[in-house]
Amino acid sequence: MTSDNNRTEELRKIKEEVLNLKKSPLYKERVKNKVFPVIGEGDHYAKIMFIGEAPGKNEAMTGRPFCGASGKVLDKLLASIKLDRKDVYITNIVKDRPPNNRDPLPEEIEFYAPFLDRQISIIKPEVIATLGRFSMQYIMERLGLADKLKSISQLHGQSFEADTDYGKVQIVPLYHPATALYGQDISVLKKDFKILKKVIA
Ligand code: URA
Repeated sequence: MTSDNNRTEELRKIKEEVLNLKKSPLYKERVKNKVFPVIGEGDHYAKIMFIGEAPGKNEAMTGRPFCGASGKVLDKLLASIKLDRKDVYITNIVKDRPPNNRDPLPEEIEFYAPFLDRQISIIKPEVIATLGRFSMQYIMERLGLADKLKSISQLHGQSFEADTDYGKVQIVPLYHPATALYGQDISVLKKDFKILKKVIA
């Protein structure tokens, strides 16, 4: 278990390891496109951690999570419940951009997931909000909730308690912010964020 005052150092180690991950299935793409992995950003003591899928083009160019079009939607959703990015921690399962923004492959999720597991153990969030079906499935299976898994349209906005190596955590599956860019009514996402706010309170 990570000692509390060591969080920044432990997270820095993860960054270092991912930067040098030549074995990664997406490493060649990273080098070819002269882009960066995206490790995560925010408060190392955050009560709430948001977990997306994988970096998109803007994220890979800057090394920052959710800084493109879906990031703007996420910012709006955070603002709707008076949360600031600096008070939460935002990351993804897959740390490098899949080519052409395709869905992450199972072997890519498997490869990067141990880094996410370590980020969770270091930050010890009380609430994990998954953004989209990939992080929902990974986190629910990882934290012993495989029997509760259903489609995201059935689970979004609900809260599930799970056990971790540092204590209890609430898992809140949310739609991916990008769905609002592809026709999903943003009021559905805002309603789920209101529920999230109640879970955090
Ligand atoms: N979509 C994601 O899942 N993560 C990002 O960081 C950006 C877009």
